[in-house]
Amino acid sequence: MQQDSVFTPIRWRDDALELIDQRLLPRRQCWNRYRDIDAVAGAIADLVVRGAPAIGISAAYGAVLGWRQARKDAAFDLQAALQRLADARPTAVNLAWAVDRQRAVLAAGGGEAELLAEAERMHRQDIDDCRAMGDLGAALIDSGSRVLTHCNAGALATGGYGTALGVILSAWRQGRIARVYADETRPWQQGLRLTAWELARDGIDVDVVVEGAACALMRSGLDWVIVGADRVCANGDVVNKIGTAGLAVLARHHGVRMMVVAPTSTLDAQTATGADVPIESRDGQEILGGAYDEMPRVRAWNPVFDVTEAALVDVLVTEKGVIHRPDTAKIAAHLSL
Ligand code: MRU
Repeated sequence: MQQDSVFTPIRWRDDALELIDQRLLPRRQCWNRYRDIDAVAGAIADLVVRGAPAIGISAAYGAVLGWRQARKDAAFDLQAALQRLADARPTAVNLAWAVDRQRAVLAAGGGEAELLAEAERMHRQDIDDCRAMGDLGAALIDSGSRVLTHCNAGALATGGYGTALGVILSAWRQGRIARVYADETRPWQQGLRLTAWELARDGIDVDVVVEGAACALMRSGLDWVIVGADRVCANGDVVNKIGTAGLAVLARHHGVRMMVVAPTSTLDAQTATGADVPIESRDGQEILGGAYDEMPRVRAWNPVFDVTEAALVDVLVTEKGVIHRPDTAKIAAHLSL
């Protein structure tokens, strides 16, 4: 599929799915090729591709591969493979949402062509949504603003253009932003390795900060914290990369505004509050890096998402518009637009 000029981390080429290996960035730009649905589930679990919309779109293409495997091998259980894909990561709702959309295509009698068309539709729609959110979010930012973002919510985390980083990109191009700060985001360093790389590639200067600098940064002068989301619950609670909730608390204390940017594919009307969301916990070695293999008393607690209560969110931007101080009624009304 042609993606006009937008950088995308996902492409369908010569009947295979290709994903840029985000674990290797920024040092190496390497595209991995997939022809097997379980290999796509593995790529999602291992963070070759990450970010809520990007894993949903990758899974949608993965369903095409699974359908082909099922045609070749009568013993191949496509529904079970789709479930493994949906279970590859538990927190981002986009993953289950995308697999459900492909299940609906199958239920309607669709085959390879229809599944591929649906995956391409989701991919294109996500880029369009990101561009729309970029404009809507940028309009909220006063000229001369200093903004902080967390993790990576850029082109790499989406079909292309980005959610939070899309807003920053649009606002930068409109001359509204004086300075961008990116949290390094331990332990995978998505801010350092991915966000800073994307910003620099787009010609935007960025200061990378350690998470512990957030309080000092806010005291030195900051206008917005701008983040993406893995899931926005029916009451407006936001589940995003670990550390987001702490930023929101700090931001409210210091009078810094908190903007969450997420397409409606990330809104989960079926889940009442953040307390109901499964929070992914990853291997402690991602933090320890083998340093304590000889000392089993040293372990690590590694939840990779947290819940920001809706009351701490100043604005939620979706492709449909802007919700100020989101709550249950406003989210429900927004979803029915
Ligand atoms: O663990 P990751 O890198 O998949 O976490 C990603 C995030 O938390 C992003 O902020 C979120 O998915 C929004 S992406 C547009």
